[in-house]
Amino acid sequence: MKSTEKRLPSFREVRNTIQRVDGWLTEHEARYLYSLAQYGPGQGAIVEIGSWKGKSTILLAAGSKSAGREKVHAVDHHKGGPDQAGLGYQDVNTEIDFRKNIKSAGIEDQVIPLVMTSTRAAQGWSGPIRLLWIDGDHSYEAVKTDLLLWEPHVVEGGVIAFHDTYAWEGPRRVVEEYLLRSNRFSILGFVDSITAVKKTQRRSPWDKIRKKIILLIRYLYILGRQHILPGEIRKWSKSCLRVMASAR
Ligand SMILES: C[S@@+](CC[C@H](N)C(=O)[O-])C[C@H]1O[C@@H](n2cnc3c(N)ncnc32)[C@H](O)[C@@H]1O
Repeated sequence: MKSTEKRLPSFREVRNTIQRVDGWLTEHEARYLYSLAQYGPGQGAIVEIGSWKGKSTILLAAGSKSAGREKVHAVDHHKGGPDQAGLGYQDVNTEIDFRKNIKSAGIEDQVIPLVMTSTRAAQGWSGPIRLLWIDGDHSYEAVKTDLLLWEPHVVEGGVIAFHDTYAWEGPRRVVEEYLLRSNRFSILGFVDSITAVKKTQRRSPWDKIRKKIILLIRYLYILGRQHILPGEIRKWSKSCLRVMASAR
């Protein structure tokens, strides 16, 4: 093996690294982000809205780097957010930890930190994006703004993925209203709380039917999560969602 090949991070190595980084991703979500960055469709930059201390940044950058692909533009003002005040994450400063974690993960060269608000970063942005990961301010208006500002830069065939799309009202509603009900996106995956879609004009009649079924099952899943429907329905609908997402 050449010395350059040795430096490429496998998911297993990255998993050990991110265990030491504060954040909220599950193991399945971590693996999914890594593989979207590694093998996801389209060409262009990876843009992350909301980095916190770098957990998802490290996964995206390592996945992309392992395939010799694009850098990650990590957008975060690093001040937490009012949506997270109840969790004690308002008026923090995560930039030092973020930079330290990116460096110790060995992927500093694959990350371009944009320490500013999502709105300001979008105003200065002009290139194509192949993977847009939205995990910033979780309020409805903010998530909607993130999507509307950044989505036009996502290439045809590119991917938009959101975190926390069930328990948090903001991402849940934006995903439902702007992506799942829209004709411009096809569903790519549901992995724990991540919903991922692909931007595409080419949709088959089955795609449209599939989307309607998914919306119905998703609705049952959310009612199950809210304990309005029995737990069995929640489990059943979650499995159905996974099956339907891969039934393309
Ligand atoms: C849930 S955390 C991100 C978690 C991260 N993706 C991870 O995997 O650990 C949300 C982040 O969004 C950032 N944020 C909130 N509002 C923002 C805004 N308007 N522009 C940029 N970043 C914002 C916060 O500073 C916080 O670090």
